[in-house]
Amino acid sequence: MTTVLVHAGRDGPQWQAQFARIAPDLHSVAWPDAIEAERVDYIACWSPPVNFFGAYPRVKAIFALGAGVDKLLSRPDFPAHVSLVRLTDAGMAEQMLEYALYGVLSYQRRMPAYAAQQMRAEWRKHPPRSRGEVRVSVLGLGAIGGVIAQGIAALGYAVGGWSRHPRSLDGVRCVSGDESLTTLLERSDVLVNVLPSTAQTRRLLNHERLSRLPRGAYVVNCSRGDQLDAQALVTLLDQAHLSGALLDVFDAEPLPPDSPLWRHPGIQITPHVAGTTLIEPSVAQIVAKIRDLESGIAVAGVVQPERAY
Ligand code: GLV
Repeated sequence: MTTVLVHAGRDGPQWQAQFARIAPDLHSVAWPDAIEAERVDYIACWSPPVNFFGAYPRVKAIFALGAGVDKLLSRPDFPAHVSLVRLTDAGMAEQMLEYALYGVLSYQRRMPAYAAQQMRAEWRKHPPRSRGEVRVSVLGLGAIGGVIAQGIAALGYAVGGWSRHPRSLDGVRCVSGDESLTTLLERSDVLVNVLPSTAQTRRLLNHERLSRLPRGAYVVNCSRGDQLDAQALVTLLDQAHLSGALLDVFDAEPLPPDSPLWRHPGIQITPHVAGTTLIEPSVAQIVAKIRDLESGIAVAGVVQPERAY
């Protein structure tokens, strides 16, 4: 019988119950319940303890209970010969679209300016902006970025998208390559970052690139904190080059209480909740992928070590 070991911290029993419900023919166990290590065919996990993986010598693939696999990949104990499979959407993309849209609306309806005015009890109107004149750029056009870009474009905004490899999406002006990124930034009123965290994307949004955004632009980061130079962001907000930022992810999480980001008037902070892993659709996806792998069928979301996502 195909056996799946789940490590999902305190939620382990809930995940296991979902596996048992959706796939009663699979043998599923929530760590630390007893299991013969030799029998484990698949592991589904997010942040298991150090040296966890070495105990299961016959594992065929490891499923990440999330979309970003940077933490798992950077672990020295991650078995290099075993495929890592990330969640592809599984209910996260719609949530991320909502989150990005909140940022777009904040910019369009000038919410940071009105929030600042409220602090001063200042009643002052600014000119309206139409959707079509708001240029939104999405960095990363995979399973999540594609849904965000097309969802925002469908509402009438002028949407562009950038990805390392060329993509084509209806209604979205897609570009790729380093030079095109600079040009895209220069034409972005709202920048939404959903790139995976890799050696190439680390600090991609540095001072030089953020300065390329037009005056008054707004930044949404809901991917990983290491891609954005937060100090550069603060500098550009203080100089009023940028008008605001919506941040869900940080270099250190939880964001330390003494971080100046918490109290910056131009920054709105959420605690890494833009796209939460949903148990039911995630288990359904993992089960479908296990069935395909067992039948020798290729599945989406297999991490390619050379590109790290
Ligand atoms: C959340 O950040 C995820 O990678 O799924």
